[in-house]
Parts: sequence; C-alpha cells; structure tokens
Amino acid sequence: MKFALITVILLSSVGVAHAASADKGQALVEKANCASCHGAGLNAPILPAYPKLAGQYSDYVYYALRAYKVGNANPQFGRNNAVMSSQVQTFSDADMHDIAAYVASLPGNFVVKK
Ligand code: HEC
Repeated sequence: MKFALITVILLSSVGVAHAASADKGQALVEKANCASCHGAGLNAPILPAYPKLAGQYSDYVYYALRAYKVGNANPQFGRNNAVMSSQVQTFSDADMHDIAAYVASLPGNFVVKK
C-alpha cells in the first residue's frame, strides 16, 4: 500500500509536460514574499536555519515544494514543516514548476567542491 502510494505520487509528478515559466514563478515568489524568510534574491536567509534557495536545481526545488504540500498525507514522501506547508497549499502543480524554474535561474553561491 505504501509502495503503491509512493508510486502514484512519483508518477503524478512526472505528469503532463508543462513548459515551466520562470517569469510566472517570479511573480508568484514576489506575491508570496518568499524573500521575507529566504532573503534578498532568495540567497540571504534571515536565519541560518532557513535554507538558501538561489541557483538550486529546479527538479529539487519542485520536489521539495511538492513534499511540503503533501505533508502528513503521505509521511513516506511528505515533509512536515508547519512554516513551509502553509506557504505552498495554494500552489498548483504548474505553479510549483514555475517557482522551481525561477529559483534555479537566480544567481546563487552554492559551490561544488572538487
Ligand atoms: C516564514 C518564513 C518562510 C517563508 C515566508 C518561506 N519559507 Fe521556504 N522555508 C522556510 C524554512 C524554515 C524552511 C526549512 C523547512 C524545513 O526544515 O523543512 C524552508 C524551506 C524551503 C525549501 C526547501 C529547501 C531545501 O533545500 O530543501 C524551499 C524550496 C522553499 N522553502 C521555498 C519557499 C518558497 C518558494 C517560498 C514562497 C512561496 C517560501 N519558501 C517562503 C521558511 C520560509
């Protein structure tokens, strides 16, 4: 049963092709004022416990947003964080793809150490 639920969620996240729009994502991020916690350019969080987002892979950001939206409904997949769960409830799947595209487009200072 759990496996079936996970499979359904993974398949639905592959879903129908949606051309993500970073411009639409930017509008959503500004409207929701994500920067009030994640900081200017989503790259300067107001507290060290808040993650930097700028430049993160869009696939990862989308996956994280979905996990907050799913929350307790599927503990195998969902992320239970009261703050972020309340942020994402109104977003559609397409919205989350758009936000992810915008976040990925931002200049960030993540580094890959070699
Ligand atoms: C009130 C503060 C606050 C606001 C506003 C906020 N966030 Fe967050 N965000 C957090 C915190 C705290 C975490 C870490 C939660 C955890 O531990 O899972 C987080 C985590 C995230 C993550 C996961 C990052 C990772 O590396 O796994 C993403 C993506 C994210 N936020 C996107 C957004 C977006 C997009 C918005 C606006 C729609 C937003 N956040 C608004 C506080 C906030």
